[in-house]
Amino acid sequence: MSNMIQVKNVSKEFKKVIKEPGLKGSVKSLFHKKTEIVKAVDNISFEVEEGEVLGFIGPNGAGKSTAIKMLTGILTPTSGEIIINGQVPYKNRKKYVKEIGVVFGQRTQLWWDLPLSETFTVLKEIYQIEDKAFKQRMDFLNQVLDLEPFVTSPVRTLSLGQRMRADIAASMIHNPKVLFLDEPTIGLDVVVKDNIRKAIAEINKNEKTTIILTTHDLSDIELLCKRIVMIDKGKKVYDGDLDHMKEKYGKMREIHITLKSDNDINKLSFAEKFGLTGDDIDIALDGKKAVVKFNSSKAQVSELLSYILSTITVKDIAVGEADIEEIIRRLYKGNENDETAHGNAAAVEA
Ligand SMILES: Nc1ncnc2c1ncn2[C@@H]1O[C@H](COP(=O)(O)OP(=O)(O)O)[C@@H](O)[C@H]1O
Ligand SMILES: [Mg+2]
Repeated sequence: MSNMIQVKNVSKEFKKVIKEPGLKGSVKSLFHKKTEIVKAVDNISFEVEEGEVLGFIGPNGAGKSTAIKMLTGILTPTSGEIIINGQVPYKNRKKYVKEIGVVFGQRTQLWWDLPLSETFTVLKEIYQIEDKAFKQRMDFLNQVLDLEPFVTSPVRTLSLGQRMRADIAASMIHNPKVLFLDEPTIGLDVVVKDNIRKAIAEINKNEKTTIILTTHDLSDIELLCKRIVMIDKGKKVYDGDLDHMKEKYGKMREIHITLKSDNDINKLSFAEKFGLTGDDIDIALDGKKAVVKFNSSKAQVSELLSYILSTITVKDIAVGEADIEEIIRRLYKGNENDETAHGNAAAVEA
């Protein structure tokens, strides 16, 4: 199998205006805008094979949508390189968008006042799809997404679930090789979510479509993706098997230590004492501050604590959960409402 998507050391920076508080601040900022650089995506690399469904996850503001916008050519990376199906998304976009499909769950690419069927007719023209191929395609999409009951209704009258099904259909009408779904189940109820997941699975199975899916709902991931890439604060923090991630991060704990002197803590002693090796133990040292991350299913917190206290001169010590667990917990909770979308969606608009 070959790589359909190659992402190499990609970053995206935004300039953000810093607002000073109060009226004086707003007047002042009209003239002298203070700006800071936000690294929305920070040096990420990954590859996706043809026909793979990749789950792209991370907490709010992690940089998922920004990454998707670069992958779909809406945004140009500040640095790095993206190649998808042999093309660079942000160059020659007109040609590129014919080979991809995009859905941004939080906005629609459908024409609000037109009946859905007319949106499809317009897309047929845009993509120059032959009558016969168009009919076959509509039949297939109708079968997996059950569009018939509302295909003659104006888009603005559709329920959110119907609208999402329609959006997915619109993104698939030209039979794209790659499909980008940014929060395709956001705000939907359980039954509708389930239907959408089944449709996505079906499309992937039938068409071998390569799919990148971002979501807050870990059930989406569990049902659709074997592999995930997790990002946090713009950085890639995990790339691999979903099962392995649960095992790896689900049980990680952290001990934060302020040492009396530099460098009197090392990984080796933990390996010897507790048999914690490889991914099960990580020690980050920054001057007199140390963070020991370890797999709590392999060693007891209390045992590690008493070992540290008896062998190392410690000024202060605290136990916490690994950050990553917080991420997962948030994902499981599915806080889907506090998300803000930026920029513009529909690939066909460009
Ligand atoms: N157009 C933009 N201008 C300035 N900052 C942006 C813009 N788009 C996104 N950001 C910032 O980049 C970060 C990542 O945002 P986003 O990619 O939307 O994250 P996610 O989709 O994972 O929630 C956030 O801090 C966000 O405020
Ligand atoms: Mg987003």
